[in-house]
Amino acid sequence: MSFIYPSVLSADFSILKDQIRELENNNIKTIHVDIMDGKFVPNISFGFPILKCIRDLTNLKLDVHLMIEEPIRYIDEFAKNGADLITVHIEGNYHIHRVIQEIKNKGIKAGIAINPGTPIGALEEILPLVDLVLVMGVNPGFGGQVFIEKSLKRIGELKRIKEENLFSFDINVDGGVKESNFETILEAGANNLIVGSDVFRDGEISRNISRYKR
Ligand code: DX5
Ligand code: ZN
Repeated sequence: MSFIYPSVLSADFSILKDQIRELENNNIKTIHVDIMDGKFVPNISFGFPILKCIRDLTNLKLDVHLMIEEPIRYIDEFAKNGADLITVHIEGNYHIHRVIQEIKNKGIKAGIAINPGTPIGALEEILPLVDLVLVMGVNPGFGGQVFIEKSLKRIGELKRIKEENLFSFDINVDGGVKESNFETILEAGANNLIVGSDVFRDGEISRNISRYKR
């Protein structure tokens, strides 16, 4: 199930090691790590010690989603603590081009995330530079929210731009992805799906992932 990127925001941290093993045993290749600063989004998650801990536990790729103000301040530290991909938001980043360059200079893949209220057109200048675009299906900050249906149209719009320009970035979708809507989201043009609450629900990781068979 390599197109599912489980978000550890919804993991049970008291048994994190076991849960990561279970992800590995279910053919997961990438783990999504949500970093929130209580400013860019109205919630605080965790920081470097937890990222480092996850890094030490697994060789899976770590996809770090920064929901923080002025991420340029911390790119180096996230790189040192084991990020394989770093995604920053288009919103509120005055020098987004510089931030993306900074990530790539570290030899790390760079992603750009976009909130539901931001027009897809705002990404135009940055699309040729990134390895992935993270289309938010919810307003970021919390797991377990309901997918905003209009996001489907936005995914389609991005896919059209990608094909017209022969871009190679992945289209990843984050927030509100569930067993009941994942196929529609893939059909709209998504390559990979970030899934938090629906993967870790009731601690039944293998059962939950098995429901994502296409
Ligand atoms: C939301 C985070 C997501 C979150 C997804 O702000 O960026 O990665 O963990 O959780 P679910 O899948 O429960 O919506
Ligand atoms: Zn996320």
